[in-house]
Amino acid sequence: MSKFQYHLFVCTNKRPDTDPRGCCSQKGSEAIHAAFKEAIQKKGLKGQIRANQAGCLDACAMGPSVVVYPEGVWYTVKTASDVNEIVDQHLIGGKPVERLFQPG
Ligand code: FES
Repeated sequence: MSKFQYHLFVCTNKRPDTDPRGCCSQKGSEAIHAAFKEAIQKKGLKGQIRANQAGCLDACAMGPSVVVYPEGVWYTVKTASDVNEIVDQHLIGGKPVERLFQPG
């Protein structure tokens, strides 16, 4: 049985600027991770929902990449408003946010 109701992994992998693959860190994923933590705290969900930093999730082109378990839903999360939408609709409301799904 899972310890958390939802467990999020936010890729904060960093590559050199010269690397053609790019990385989620260049696209602002540290701020996205911080925004998830802040929203979880503010909504009183600490202990039920956990947002961890992760290394490369092998979805670099679609970053900033975030995966939500237990469903295994993959998102591209670019803004604090995207974060709030996922927290409210998916993590609290139980309805994944389709417009932010990664293709595939
Ligand atoms: S660098 Fe984020 S998924 Fe690869």
